[in-house]
Amino acid sequence: MARGKEMTEPGKIWGVGVGPGDPELLTLKAHRIITTADVVAYPAPNNGNSVARSIVADYLKDNQTEFAIRISMDPAQFPPRDIYQRAADDIFAHSEEGRSVAVLCEGDPFFYGSFMYLFERLAIRKSVEIVPGVSSMTASAAALQIPLASRNDVISVIPATLDASEIKERLKTADMAIFIKVGRHLGKIKTILDEVGLFDKANYIERATMQAEKTSSLADIVEDTAPYFSIIMAHRRGAAL
Ligand SMILES: C[S@@+](CC[C@H](N)C(=O)[O-])C[C@H]1O[C@@H](n2cnc3c(N)ncnc32)[C@H](O)[C@@H]1O
Repeated sequence: MARGKEMTEPGKIWGVGVGPGDPELLTLKAHRIITTADVVAYPAPNNGNSVARSIVADYLKDNQTEFAIRISMDPAQFPPRDIYQRAADDIFAHSEEGRSVAVLCEGDPFFYGSFMYLFERLAIRKSVEIVPGVSSMTASAAALQIPLASRNDVISVIPATLDASEIKERLKTADMAIFIKVGRHLGKIKTILDEVGLFDKANYIERATMQAEKTSSLADIVEDTAPYFSIIMAHRRGAAL
């Protein structure tokens, strides 16, 4: 059987990375699955649009069933197990009735992707194929024109939500530090980077590859909070060159 032929298989379930924002950063495989699946599911906030869906909106067809998985953005409720369980049950039911299901995930599904909460519930019942996507980490490096790592460099991806003391520990062994989930922790990260002598080497990006993308050195950012889609990168040598 030719590779890709299995994509029309009835009842198949995929977790599909749709990349960081630019619809052209979708893989050919993701495009094929998204345009042929019977059901397209995606996470969405309780109120508002799904970012993952907006990335592929131009590719969706009228004859596809759409299924928004409404998830509260309140960190105190995260991850909302009951919602993921119900969504997994619904996806499984579609699949059992012979409909193929593409579950969209912004960026890459297994790089801090929300899809993994569904994956752990679905994969125990049925095989699930993961289609990797361009992650925000690699997209941000490209947009900032800052190589991530060379030779023996160690990259550390650090959620900005961690305590300051843990972040400082992690920074000790990193050549390149990439802070995700910056949001309301921007001020804290600035202070830490200043204390460890990395502030002037740090760069900031928000909404990488989306229409409102913004890039800057961290020193030029006066605010102490950032949008949800933002990343800070600091390489010990300035860049991995
Ligand atoms: C829950 S993680 C999801 C990561 C995603 N699965 C990926 O592969 O990039 C969310 C964090 O990823 C980062 N992020 C995701 N997309 C981004 C984008 N387009 N621009 C900047 N940061 C992004 C932000 O730091 C955000 O807080």
